[in-house]
Amino acid sequence: MLLLKDIHTFYGNIEAVKGIDLHVDKGEIVCLIGSNGAGKSTALMTISGILKPKNGGILFEGEEIHKLPPHQIVSRGISQVPEGRRIFPRLTVMENLEMGAYSVNSYQLSVVRKHPPLIPPLTRVDTGGVTTQLEKVFELFSVLKERRNQLGGTLSGGEQQMLAIGRALMSNPKLLLLDEPSLGLAPIFVIKIFKTIRELNSEGLTILLVEQNAKAALRLANRGYVMESGKVIKEGKGAELPHDADIKKAYLGE
Ligand SMILES: Nc1ncnc2c1ncn2[C@@H]1O[C@H](COP(=O)(O)OP(=O)(O)OP(=O)(O)O)[C@@H](O)[C@H]1O
Ligand SMILES: [Mg+2]
Repeated sequence: MLLLKDIHTFYGNIEAVKGIDLHVDKGEIVCLIGSNGAGKSTALMTISGILKPKNGGILFEGEEIHKLPPHQIVSRGISQVPEGRRIFPRLTVMENLEMGAYSVNSYQLSVVRKHPPLIPPLTRVDTGGVTTQLEKVFELFSVLKERRNQLGGTLSGGEQQMLAIGRALMSNPKLLLLDEPSLGLAPIFVIKIFKTIRELNSEGLTILLVEQNAKAALRLANRGYVMESGKVIKEGKGAELPHDADIKKAYLGE
């Protein structure tokens, strides 16, 4: 479904991703682990088109996507839950979710940035209809339904994470990119988030998951990749990686 070939991504002249190869098959949960600064978020942002690779290529369902702008990548069926949630604090829960059903192009984004209260007409990307998606999200996270008129910024951290996932689901993606969804959450929320990931996957959603919580993520994943200093240093089955001596030592604290 997704194939990265020799991807190099830079910030100015700093090379953060140094030639990674990675693939995700339809129906899989694949996790990406690695220490802070390894380049995991950069890799996800390169897939979703926010960052452009300097070399290499990305194929999604056979189509080259690495030159497409982010809003077109969303339309193709890739949706990202960014690190740190990045919900819209001054929009309500409902408005945050509605935003997820639109693909914002760079012009529209520039208008929003210059005039924060102004939201220009946006392009709908949903295929199944906004109402159907909304019902699905509310079924998954009933707390969002209860709090639909509350401002996003006043939700608890765990609720904001659910909102960020809900917002990403509104475009009815085929592939969901999750960047550290359990970060900073209380154990009960972590369990809820992992349970949701499993549930979404069993309904057919393919998932690429970045996690610090390596043990739990590998337990969930079909396969995993380990990144270090911008490179993939190891790959393997979710069930096998936790038994690798290097992985145990470096990432599982054993
Ligand atoms: N906007 C930026 N400008 C310059 N360098 C950046 C920028 N964003 C990230 N980097 C650098 O790129 C490297 C990879 O960062 P990235 O955020 O992808 O790591 P990560 O694996 O997601 O780490 P973490 O687990 O801490 O989230 C780091 O060395 C970081 O300092
Ligand atoms: Mg990161």
